[in-house]
Amino acid sequence: MLVAIDGPVGAGKSTVARAVAAHLGFTYLDTGAMYRCVALARVQDESADRTRPVEELAIDFEGTRVFLDDMDATDVIRTPAVSQRASEVATDPAVRENLVERQRALTQRGDWVAEGRDIGTVVRPDAELKVFLTASDEERAGRRAAQTGRTLEEELADLRERDERDRTREASPLRQADDAVLVDTTGLSFDEVVTRIAQLVDDVRGPATTPKDAGT
Ligand code: DC
Repeated sequence: MLVAIDGPVGAGKSTVARAVAAHLGFTYLDTGAMYRCVALARVQDESADRTRPVEELAIDFEGTRVFLDDMDATDVIRTPAVSQRASEVATDPAVRENLVERQRALTQRGDWVAEGRDIGTVVRPDAELKVFLTASDEERAGRRAAQTGRTLEEELADLRERDERDRTREASPLRQADDAVLVDTTGLSFDEVVTRIAQLVDDVRGPATTPKDAGT
């Protein structure tokens, strides 16, 4: 089974997807980390004066860590320089094509919660459950401001600019799939969001797997 979770910056996708996966015993796939690894490779290539094509890059997940060609890249891919670069490489159709192919292959077997921008629309339109996770601009900016220490206004301006770029880019723009369930997390607690998605999964899987039927 595949649960696809897409949505804009700051909607809480990664923390929610991670918790939903842990709750269900599914494997979590962070597709943004893959774009970030390609961005890191571009930064590395610039200082080494070489260019490695995307298909030659080894990107592997081990538990909560991500590796780029045997180097633990988990922390360095979160730096502002790599984040900025990631949003640029994500507009490159050749990069998208290669990573989408890897994401399809990875999620072909087993149970997954995959999170990104285009899982339900492009990577796996056949996902059993598609969630489009969002929240008001102010709430998303407020959450980021709490993490970064920047002002709400700065975060709001930044977020609206990134949203605009994500929604208007030519290659796989961010949009809600027609059959995705919209989950607006504005005013909801983290636990309420995870419970809501777990409920949606139960609805899809049918009553046989709900706790009240277990062991009967
Ligand atoms: O979710 P994130 O911030 O880690 O994503 C990093 C970048 O990759 C961001 O600019 C959006 C882009 N991305 C994408 O275009 N498609 C995905 N499926 C996941 C991320």
